[in-house]
Amino acid sequence: MTPELGVCYYPEHWAEEIWADDARRMAEAGLTWVRIGEFAWSRMEPEAGRYTFGWLDRAIEVLGGAGLKVILGTPTATPPRWMLAKHPDMLALDAESRPRGFGSRRHYCFSHQGYRAECRAIVTKLAERYGANPHVAAWQLDNEYGCHDTTVSYSPAARAGFRDWLAQRYQSIDALNRAWGNVFWSMEYADFDEIDLPNLTVTEPNPAHAMAFRRFASDEVAAFNRAQAEILRRHTRAPLIHNYMGRVLDFDHFAVAADLDIASWDSYPLGFPLDRIEGSETFKERYLRQGDPDFQAFHHDLYRAVGRGRWWVMEQQPGPVNWAPWNVAPLDGMVRLWSWEAIAHGAEVVSYFRWRQAPFAQEQMHSGLLRPDSAPAPALAEARQVAEELNRIGEIVPARAPVAIVFDYASQWAWETQPQGADFNYFTLVFAAYRALRRAGLSVDFLPPDTRDFAGYGLVLAPGLFALPEGLAEALAGSGAEVLIGPRAGSKTDEFAIPVPLPPALPGLDAVVARVESLPPGDTVGVQGGGAFERWFEHLDGSAEMVLTTADGRAGAMRAGTLTYLAGWPDADLWDRLIATACEAADIPRAALPEGLRLRDAAQHRFAFNYGAAPVVFDGREIPAAGVAWWPR
Ligand code: GAL
Repeated sequence: MTPELGVCYYPEHWAEEIWADDARRMAEAGLTWVRIGEFAWSRMEPEAGRYTFGWLDRAIEVLGGAGLKVILGTPTATPPRWMLAKHPDMLALDAESRPRGFGSRRHYCFSHQGYRAECRAIVTKLAERYGANPHVAAWQLDNEYGCHDTTVSYSPAARAGFRDWLAQRYQSIDALNRAWGNVFWSMEYADFDEIDLPNLTVTEPNPAHAMAFRRFASDEVAAFNRAQAEILRRHTRAPLIHNYMGRVLDFDHFAVAADLDIASWDSYPLGFPLDRIEGSETFKERYLRQGDPDFQAFHHDLYRAVGRGRWWVMEQQPGPVNWAPWNVAPLDGMVRLWSWEAIAHGAEVVSYFRWRQAPFAQEQMHSGLLRPDSAPAPALAEARQVAEELNRIGEIVPARAPVAIVFDYASQWAWETQPQGADFNYFTLVFAAYRALRRAGLSVDFLPPDTRDFAGYGLVLAPGLFALPEGLAEALAGSGAEVLIGPRAGSKTDEFAIPVPLPPALPGLDAVVARVESLPPGDTVGVQGGGAFERWFEHLDGSAEMVLTTADGRAGAMRAGTLTYLAGWPDADLWDRLIATACEAADIPRAALPEGLRLRDAAQHRFAFNYGAAPVVFDGREIPAAGVAWWPR
């Protein structure tokens, strides 16, 4: 596969006279894909039932005529104003029951049946009209499900849907009462219609109730997406794609992806560290203009799994954005580095957001490949350079990584529902493990929680899984790979209760979590030999072999066969030790990397990325600041 580049374009924002020149310049820069249409509903259907597709016909013709392949978006993230007059109750309600009103985007509730019908109607029109259009080579469904906190809605439509979902899941109200333990605090229900959404309760709702609602909300996103996919499939053979986001985990991406062909995500490396991840001030200063050296790669690897091997970057940051607390410009070279890093991780397409900076409305401060006056912005030259380099490098064949991480969206919801310690967060835990693997120079694959075949992996990590899906522990124990599992593994049933026999109940491992404690910042449990547990520590009983011992002689990890159960949340030093020991046991070579350098191995190439602001030397090569290098493996 030879990767390609693309760009996001909004023909409806510009005078028709300049489309042809835009298209020519895109192609001339080496771009081959262009995404359009995803927010243009008010121009496709200006009044209910009156369709105006002429402009879109011409836009597709002009872009396609210039040799570009079009990704056509369904516009369902931005219902026009008339839609609200028609369906006044279609808005999502927030947890305080306030409507999330018109005037930006994503103003809809996934559960509103009237809105779903409107979406089916517009998607049908688009599919009929463009499904066989030779220029439309891919489809994007909606835009960024869950963005701006929109997965969960506390609307009457959601409540009705939730009751129905519960009735199907539990069949009888007694079964639900038993499963949730509703005898506690006299919370028993006599009928599904008595069950409200888990907001506006006096104190916390039953975690089983909250978790069921999170599962329901996730299923609603998948159902909403599936409805569009089914229509499109009837009219087109082009691949169906959604653009997911960084660290948005409110719905099960594996479930949504089951109805699609390709996963993609929107990568904004400079926005994220300032907005979305933890890190010391020194760390944030060091990577201010480069982005976190692991955050992009984490999502590349995760979305490769979500897309079952096929994935893109649908939106790549080209310069300053408008939505972080501060919006700095990237170091020269970073747009190229980010693009290459995605490609090295297997992206089929990297598409920049956006072609020309819009001088109006919400994103007028968001850069593009062109300035508002159509002169090139700095990113255009970097994109062009990547296109030229891609022509030279030829095929990049993906390789299986030696290490895998099992990733489970439901565990994110579970620990948001019951963190037990204010800073226990599933993503943060998994990301800490991922960082340690990358510090050791390793390439990583993610695997969905229904994976049972681990053949080919030397090391598998499964941190923080709240309920172990049936058969997973047995498959891991029998896989032959080194396995690092825990903390909190299998510490709940699917119905959010503590299982008896007590966790972790792993095959062959005589160890029981006798009690758990969460640790406030600064309070740690030291480990003999170096490193410590922070945030979370479990007191283990049992006769299994102790392979880590705390400073005061308690078990830090216990082992049976190739399976090691971790009793707490390791700090960075302890992660490094754990990864080193596991890699030695599994015979996986590591690398000693200079600060800020990261590697990624494809079948025939080793890629290196310098996130640092100064040159580094690795393997006899000097890699400049914000530089990329590759060589044969
Ligand atoms: C994404 C979104 C785009 C644009 C971009 C700005 O979240 O899909 O439409 O808003 O961010 O960075």
